[in-house]
Amino acid sequence: MVVPGSQHIEDKMYHPPEGLQKDAHVPDFNCYLELYKKSIEEPDAFWKEVASDFYWKKPPTGQILQYNFDVTKGNIYVKCMEGATTNMCYNVLDRNVKDKNLGERVAFYWEGNSPDHHEAITYGQLLGQVCRCSNTLKQMGVRKGDRVAIYLPMIPELVYTMLACTRIGAVHSIVFAGFSAESLCERIMDSQCSILVTADGVYRGEKLINLKQIADEALEKCREKASATVTRCLVVKHHALRTQDGDTPWDAACDVCWEEVMGQVSEHCEPEWLDAEDPLFILYTSGSTGKPKGVLHTVAGYLLYTSLTFKYVFDHQPDDVYWCTADIGWITGHSYITYGPLANGATSVLFEGIPVHPHVGRFWEVIEKYRVTKFYTAPTAIRLLMKYGLDPVQKYDLSSLRILGTVGEPINPEAWHWYHEVIGQKRCPVVDTFWQTETGGHVLTPLPAATPLKPGSATFPFFGVEPTILNEHGEELEGEAEGYLVFRRPWPGIMRTLYGNQERFENTYFKKFPGFYVTGDGCRRDRDGYYWIAGRIDDMINVSGHLLSTAEVEASLTDHGAVAEAAVVSRPHAVKGECLYCFVTLKDCREFNRTLVDELKRQVREKIGPIATPDFIQNAPGLPKTRSGKIMRRVLRQIARNEKDLGDLSTMADPKVVEVLFNHRCETA
Ligand code: PRX
Repeated sequence: MVVPGSQHIEDKMYHPPEGLQKDAHVPDFNCYLELYKKSIEEPDAFWKEVASDFYWKKPPTGQILQYNFDVTKGNIYVKCMEGATTNMCYNVLDRNVKDKNLGERVAFYWEGNSPDHHEAITYGQLLGQVCRCSNTLKQMGVRKGDRVAIYLPMIPELVYTMLACTRIGAVHSIVFAGFSAESLCERIMDSQCSILVTADGVYRGEKLINLKQIADEALEKCREKASATVTRCLVVKHHALRTQDGDTPWDAACDVCWEEVMGQVSEHCEPEWLDAEDPLFILYTSGSTGKPKGVLHTVAGYLLYTSLTFKYVFDHQPDDVYWCTADIGWITGHSYITYGPLANGATSVLFEGIPVHPHVGRFWEVIEKYRVTKFYTAPTAIRLLMKYGLDPVQKYDLSSLRILGTVGEPINPEAWHWYHEVIGQKRCPVVDTFWQTETGGHVLTPLPAATPLKPGSATFPFFGVEPTILNEHGEELEGEAEGYLVFRRPWPGIMRTLYGNQERFENTYFKKFPGFYVTGDGCRRDRDGYYWIAGRIDDMINVSGHLLSTAEVEASLTDHGAVAEAAVVSRPHAVKGECLYCFVTLKDCREFNRTLVDELKRQVREKIGPIATPDFIQNAPGLPKTRSGKIMRRVLRQIARNEKDLGDLSTMADPKVVEVLFNHRCETA
């Protein structure tokens, strides 16, 4: 690795502010390098020290990290702290309340969709609510190892439920409350959940989402598929409580009212002591075959990794007020709203709303209201808010901010500079954190007081992470290079398997290049050793920071009676980063018109969820295919982007289709 400061430095380098360096955990680049070296050369000593901050009922018996990353040598596995027993909930709550005397400290400032709804929850209160919820789940029959599906909006009960699961050794599977009934059903069935926890409804901006109704539909679909596993549904009366609207569909044989049961149980609950490698949670992420993958994380490694990345990447200090705007339904919320911050005894904002409700300055208003010091959001949100200019920002006092972060997709220079200059007032480093549902926590990231920044680069590896770049033949590339981003060894927070499907786990991440974890992202390393993520190199599309599988969208399009064949590609989008551009070939005698386009969009929204709604649907009387019948997606991508120079088309069965497709192109959504 080349140390920034050498003659190779590029012009656009942003150095950490001195004020931040004074009390920082990692105060300069040399300190980063030293710690990094230790984490790679003496991983056991490094992680042992991190583990010493936490409570272990029994200590580990062997090496801290054990693994096999080489499919040719046997099954892939990773183990961390083998032999140790512990409890996640105990470490993030009881340890703070009892050992550190932080019971009175605010864990969350909950801020509702409406600015009139808010609530502060201390660590002591959080522990009490989590214990009540643990007892409730136990009363409903949940036992260690059982899977609990959670379909809740961003309300405190979501945090109570996930931590309650970890307290009693149940495995939570949170499904983002924007997913459809079908997606929820698929996820419940894949991991055979025994309980579903949901809410009656929630306002997202101006729009009411009837979660209970969607949840009921999902359970009905599970029953139709004859493999219903959910026996009870625990329902939070969130909407009714706030609006006096009590019109929730209710089935007394299955549904349990949160408010009723929580009052009847004790606020004490002994934690279940789990093995370090027992499962902690499952979180589904899109897979290139179309079927979502149940990424499984385990207790000890995830605790060590999320707590350490949170502490260093946001340089956590006791007086911080931290805000991550993600939804807990995604990995960013799991790791950097719940587990990482709570493990550090942090005070966070938990936000139910959206950036533009009731006005486009809402984010900045919330920052002023709670004097937020560390702010973590997605490039898509920045691009959206940039559009409204300076006025909505300048109304608020953002002087409390010290560090800004981004996640989910590459950040374009324009958005980076706006974030840095307008929001951070040139005072706050921007940590561009690259990671995945599978990695559990940040893997390439700057450290705010140590790493000179280049806008758009996720810079260098976090401690314990060893990236490398391979070419198509699996050869490692040195120095300046571009190719497949892979990792040579595990860090504690990496996924352990895909739930119930070790074979798919090995095939997806380890088969292409034996000895390496393959991220699926393309990447460039520049002459200073900085890493630049180039985006997905598989059939996934990153829309507003969420990965979507083209195969899954294609399957929901071809489910429509009028569609014979569909192919989905990405097209650049000013706010979302990328969006979906769909080509559909209709069955004979079906007419392509506006009504059909609307129907198809609705169909995808209903099957997957609103995030997957296509922006463009184009009529494709024929698709470009090779002589062996494979769809040439490269050509479709170029047509979607109106790139006329298509290069070599010699393998195409019928080149005439290209001209027809150009003639049918959609200019606007
Ligand atoms: O393509 C990369 C992109 O998001 C993918 C992971 O998506 P997901 O599992 O949904 O997790 C998102 C939140 C961690 C990656 O394979 N990605 C994530 N962060 C960045 C990024 N691309 C560029 N820069 C980032 N900082």
